[in-house]
Amino acid sequence: MNMVEIIRKKRDGEALLGEEIAWFVRALCAGSIPDYQVSALLMAIFLRGMNGEETAALTLEMAKSGGMADLSAVPGLKVDKHSTGGVGDLTTLVALPLAAACGAKVAKMSGRALGHTGGTLDKLWSIPGFRTNLSEGEFTAQLNQIGCALIGQSEALAPADKILYALRDVSATVESLPLIVSSILSKKIAAGADAIVLDVKTGSGALMKGFEDSMALAEEMVKIGKLAGRRMLALVTDMDEPLGRSIGNALEIREAVAILKGEEEGRAAELCLRIAAAMLALALDLAEDEALKRVRAALEEGRGLLKLREWVAAQGGNPAAIDDPSLLPGARVRREVKSLQSGFITAIDARALGLAAGALGAARETKEAAVDYGVGLELLRQRGDAVRAGEALAAVYAQSEEAALRCEGDILAAIQIGEDEPRPRPLIFARFERKAPPKHSILPSFQKINPFPGFSC
Ligand code: URA
Repeated sequence: MNMVEIIRKKRDGEALLGEEIAWFVRALCAGSIPDYQVSALLMAIFLRGMNGEETAALTLEMAKSGGMADLSAVPGLKVDKHSTGGVGDLTTLVALPLAAACGAKVAKMSGRALGHTGGTLDKLWSIPGFRTNLSEGEFTAQLNQIGCALIGQSEALAPADKILYALRDVSATVESLPLIVSSILSKKIAAGADAIVLDVKTGSGALMKGFEDSMALAEEMVKIGKLAGRRMLALVTDMDEPLGRSIGNALEIREAVAILKGEEEGRAAELCLRIAAAMLALALDLAEDEALKRVRAALEEGRGLLKLREWVAAQGGNPAAIDDPSLLPGARVRREVKSLQSGFITAIDARALGLAAGALGAARETKEAAVDYGVGLELLRQRGDAVRAGEALAAVYAQSEEAALRCEGDILAAIQIGEDEPRPRPLIFARFERKAPPKHSILPSFQKINPFPGFSC
């Protein structure tokens, strides 16, 4: 095989053969292709795209590029869940214990914060003692014992992605559908779960901001996960505004606990229930409305909260921190940001608030930087609310008055106020899962459901 010829083919818009992709991934991991040739191929893929077979081949070769987790010691179907990244996105913290409390085996692999989006690992690390570096033996034993376990992304799984992601980051090739699909799914497939629920975000705070791009990403990931033998379900969900009212690690733990105590009923709580139901439906082969009924019952009976305490204790965390927020990291300063005008809140820019929380220390600017788990933002008003000048819109949690003051302008700029009450935005735009493939086709067909007929998809 010849790398120059592979680059030329893709540059000219030709499809690569499965064996060319397999050779490329092997040679990449062996370190025998110089970065400039890998980057040239990435740019050719970015500009020319890949067809379904190429994307599937790239994903599967990347998944096989390192170890593949073996969860066969845990009987039954194991389910994982992945969000493409959001702001105030605490769904895992609620959906995982709820699904496990209803009998699903949840084998979750999570990542750290990326850019303006938060990371589940950072949120969990804000609970004193919580460990995510479980050995394979600890992971499977915990899964058998309490029905859920969560680990950090392991360097041993899909190492090809680590090499490619680092080069995509510096060659302006991150936002490519086949490269995102193969990056996310190769790690999920290697992590060993039989079923995967995808929460594909769309809107200003999402990785894929455009609606059509988000739909295409969801559809492609479901298709390719199925080709890899996984049960797949994807929801395309709103990330034009932050999901929850808190943005910041310990703050999001507190909000997740409040949801599990039944004290919060907004959009975040609703999405957590829907994601937990999707996980349960895939894992136990249930109709989704039956799964939703069971998940709601687990919430109302407090079984989700019990499972959260059990999960935290099993992974070395202090379960008392679930009930006593003073045991979580905090901030020295709480400063309210007041509205300068009266009107309706018409938009809340999720990306801008994610960046503002990051600047306070809630996310890392470099890979090695430390995160301050206690800082962040709390939205005191939501999109659609009426406000008067002088009323508080948000609270900043910072370690100094200066740090709190510094982000006030960014928060005011992120919250738009207008004269007219805005139309509510849907929370879930679409749902993808595969129907049985037609007999004459080797490729799967898809069911695309728009639960909001007024909204085109
Ligand atoms: N998350 C990933 O793991 N990979 C991408 O390409 C984008 C988001």
